[in-house]
Amino acid sequence: MAAWGAAPDAVRGEQIYARCLACHALATDRVGPRHCGLFGRLAGSVPGFSYSQAMKNSKIVWNDKTLDRFLAKPLAMVPGSAMTYDGVPDPMERADLIAYLRQANGKPPCTNGH
Ligand code: HEC
Repeated sequence: MAAWGAAPDAVRGEQIYARCLACHALATDRVGPRHCGLFGRLAGSVPGFSYSQAMKNSKIVWNDKTLDRFLAKPLAMVPGSAMTYDGVPDPMERADLIAYLRQANGKPPCTNGH
């Protein structure tokens, strides 16, 4: 769908998010922390989730830029992170994924029970 140079596509991003669902969910902590409220959040700050020291010390604030860098190669940006995932090498896929994550913040299940 998203042709070269097209705007990020949150619908395509939702399909790419399927790769993250192995460890993450929007509204609940799993192997990885929940993603609801991710934008503007300080890395390593979901209460009760047991992060690596590396993530807690990273001082990253999650936004389009930092997510793009992290998701390209998680361990390159946060060496020692417990997120043992290779990343999403395709920049267009990352843009779609980040568009989805941003959009999901204002929608169910993120708007329920919070
Ligand atoms: C193999 C399991 C696994 C997969 C797959 C995975 N993650 Fe993670 N993720 C984790 C873990 C574990 C952490 C906590 C890392 C730490 O504490 O160092 C994490 C942390 C994160 C964080 C930091 C959150 C915070 O609260 O600071 C983001 C953002 C993130 N993951 C996004 C993604 C996205 C997007 C995908 C899909 C492309 C993905 N992850 C795939 C396990 C995974």
